[in-house]
Amino acid sequence: MAKDVIIACDFASAAQTLTFLDRFPEGEKPFVKIGMELFYAAGPEIVREIKRRGHRIFLDLKLHDIPNTVRKTMRVLSSLDVDMTNVHAAGTIEMMKAALEGLTREDGTRPLLIAVTQLTSTSEERMQQELLIGATINETIVKYAQNACEAGLDGVVCSPLEAGMVKQACGAAFMTVTPGIRFADAAADDQVRITTPARAREIGSDYIVVGRPIAAADDPVAAWRRCRKDFLNL
Ligand code: C5P
Repeated sequence: MAKDVIIACDFASAAQTLTFLDRFPEGEKPFVKIGMELFYAAGPEIVREIKRRGHRIFLDLKLHDIPNTVRKTMRVLSSLDVDMTNVHAAGTIEMMKAALEGLTREDGTRPLLIAVTQLTSTSEERMQQELLIGATINETIVKYAQNACEAGLDGVVCSPLEAGMVKQACGAAFMTVTPGIRFADAAADDQVRITTPARAREIGSDYIVVGRPIAAADDPVAAWRRCRKDFLNL
């Protein structure tokens, strides 16, 4: 399975994003993540422009709606030719199956589809008290990953510290895409359950999503290269 570093382009405008990507030399095209902030600010055109520049894109919009709406929305996202996109596993197996149908193009090709299990910002206490979910957070993560697997999805977004548990439950081929990555010598920012690129590889992450350690670095290209070197063991 292809493993790589995905840079979270958490910028508020197309101009800022393109200025950032301009720093990378021709021939070095990082895999990038476009989230809700940038997509809602700059629209589908920023996706097309970044594709034109030759990057692979993870469109992180975390869809969660009735199956019919998700199916039709995924058809639109698929036509943007993104490489990976996602839904919330909490939308149920039926919704995840509908997402997969919508994403699949007439020729049978489709972007990778992964599911968010539990957001890493959700604590076990809040999940149990506010959402009335009686299980432990790890039990829900494993169950949601199994549901995603049953629906035919390619993998899940989870904390790198949960990647091993997901692989054990769903098999080695089931992808884990993991944010919460920091260099050993760097600040954690607001992330809590973090690990290093090298440790994420050891635990079994297939893709690591890295934002501020690259985007806010003095030399983002050097930080991206360091991250790839550590994660891919180059
Ligand atoms: O800057 P940092 O490396 O913390 O960025 C991590 C990226 O991954 C952000 O875009 C954040 O929204 C995203 N993310 C996360 N935790 C999740 C899901 C997504 O940090 N559970």
